[in-house]
Amino acid sequence: MAVQVMARRSILAGTGGYLPARVLTNQELAASLDTSDAWIRERTGICQRHIAAPHETAAFMGTAAARQALAAAGAEPAEVEAIIVATSTPDQAFPSTALRIQAALDLPGGFGFDLSAACSGFVYALSVGDSLIRAGQAKGVLVIGTEVYSRILDWSDRGTCVLFGDGAGAVFLRAGAEGTDRGILSTHLHGQGSLGDILYVNGAVGRPDLPGTLVMQGREVFRHAVNRLAESVDEALAANFLTREDVDWLVPHQANLRIIDAMGRKLGLAPERVVVTVDRHANTSAASVPLALAEAVGDGRIGQGDLVLMEALGGGLTWGSALVRM
Ligand code: UT7
Repeated sequence: MAVQVMARRSILAGTGGYLPARVLTNQELAASLDTSDAWIRERTGICQRHIAAPHETAAFMGTAAARQALAAAGAEPAEVEAIIVATSTPDQAFPSTALRIQAALDLPGGFGFDLSAACSGFVYALSVGDSLIRAGQAKGVLVIGTEVYSRILDWSDRGTCVLFGDGAGAVFLRAGAEGTDRGILSTHLHGQGSLGDILYVNGAVGRPDLPGTLVMQGREVFRHAVNRLAESVDEALAANFLTREDVDWLVPHQANLRIIDAMGRKLGLAPERVVVTVDRHANTSAASVPLALAEAVGDGRIGQGDLVLMEALGGGLTWGSALVRM
């Protein structure tokens, strides 16, 4: 007799987000920098970004987003068996941001760690969380993206500082009942270290001489983003024997409205089926996808049963996708 072992699916049981109160507009930036509201809007779609106050660290914002995700999922603290935090801007080298958040949430147990994949961090973390659940290593996983890029920007470089903002987003993954068609259908991750120097931070912890700011060859990154993300979309659909008509929502990384629009057109999605936050949040790196997801779930646009495609590309280069039945 054949025994069929069904892997458990990871259900996105709750979402949450956090944005600092302080809003920095393009006009404010243009007052002290050789830029303009018109240039930033036309080239990126960004109108404003949120900037963290000193107490709003990656752990602080991640805690707030996680608390919301757990409440939305109706999860008990003991259900959280693992915490994965995607961040390039942790509070400290260690303890991990994940365990700072575990303490702040007063969780009774589990394990946690940080994951570094720049703007693809959330998709990477979602993939790892899904693997933990499929492998039976955890039944409940908090996956968080939280970033304070305002602290690693060169505020005199108009080519980068206008592009980013701060924030955090989170989802609570819960092992679904066997046989459910809801949950994460697939994740696909990619990396190309040979392209590391087109988007990087020129410093590190333990290098007081080089605290590090973000450096980007914008045009090069743009070119790779459009090509790699288009491949990712095809890869995700093919792996699930689905077509673009099956996709209900695109929740893309929020780096540039021109890239987002190109992906929406590739999928043949009506603009209102593409979740856009870049106009208000700018690029919040690993927080951008979960923040956009939390917004669209929170306002009722994305509902149970919808097929959602998430994709991201960032420094590394890293890129990938996640296809989810909500
Ligand atoms: O999240 C990780 C992934 N990141 C991305 O996907 C970002 C990808 N790249 C981009 O989004 C775009 O390349 C940028 C928004 C960064 C730049 O847009 P662009 O259309 O590629 O502009 P560019 O870099 O080719 O620059 C065009 C011009 C240049 O002037 P010249 O050389 O033509 O005289 C820049 O110096 O625009 C100038 N420029 C600015 N002007 C006003 C660059 N930044 C600014 C600025 N304000 N903030």
